[in-house]
Amino acid sequence: MSLAESMAAALDPVRFAESLRFEPEPWQSTLLRSQARRGLVLCARQVGKTTTTSVKALHAALFNPGRDVLIVSPTQRQSDEMLHRVSALYKAMSGQPRLKRDNTSEMGLSNGSRVVSLPGSEGGIRGFAGVKLLILDEASRIDDDVFASVLPMVASDGVLLALSTPFGKRGWFYDRHEDALNGWERHKVTVYESAQYTPERIAEVRASLGSFTFASDYECEFGDTDNQLFSTESVRAAFAPGITPLDLEVA
Ligand SMILES: Nc1ncnc2c1ncn2[C@@H]1O[C@H](COP(=O)(O)OP(=O)(O)OP(=O)(O)O)[C@@H](O)[C@H]1O
Ligand SMILES: [Mg+2]
Repeated sequence: MSLAESMAAALDPVRFAESLRFEPEPWQSTLLRSQARRGLVLCARQVGKTTTTSVKALHAALFNPGRDVLIVSPTQRQSDEMLHRVSALYKAMSGQPRLKRDNTSEMGLSNGSRVVSLPGSEGGIRGFAGVKLLILDEASRIDDDVFASVLPMVASDGVLLALSTPFGKRGWFYDRHEDALNGWERHKVTVYESAQYTPERIAEVRASLGSFTFASDYECEFGDTDNQLFSTESVRAAFAPGITPLDLEVA
């Protein structure tokens, strides 16, 4: 990469992606260029969320020397898989110095930055602080207590990006998504908005799945969870505006 190309890539993650021979779709470009400190990316299956964030992770590590990028997923294996994609992208770049560290759960760059993959369990993720970019992949399946323990690890200038298909009306990912005023930037990519899906492919997927799973995994709808006695819609409908709850004292 020439100096001019390197400067353009540093300033624009889309130029950086293109230099890696990844041509982002419009929603992927928006996500790559986003500077929001908190982002929720609600996506259909197989639209490219892991690939796009792998590019974002590498960009953050290369152009913020000495900083940490963390990848957290429900399992260590899933996080390692994303780290593997990040290191494959790095190794495909020409003229880059050798990695200082290169194993299944950590990639150390010569500029002092690290990309680290972690499991979605509380015990496995302590000990990080001042993180530049924290990626939560398959976020709706990451437990609330894990989310609570990783949140303080993000630096004040750091970014937290949560990507997921929905997993029912439960948990921190759903709560953040529903709360319109919480300051998280939201992205939504259903199967209809993804260039990875032709109408034929959509029809094939739809035919192979039940309507609940298709609505959740491909149309990004948060369905009711199986352990709910009443549907969320019925509970909402039971509330009438203007009626204040009785202030009963319990003995
Ligand atoms: N802009 C793009 N150009 C070419 N291929 C793309 C693009 N975006 C995504 N893909 C391809 O789509 C496939 C799915 O990508 P990826 O694994 O990142 O998706 P995902 O949303 O994380 O999937 P999953 O739901 O399984 O986690 C991969 O083969 C990837 O290369
Ligand atoms: Mg993925």
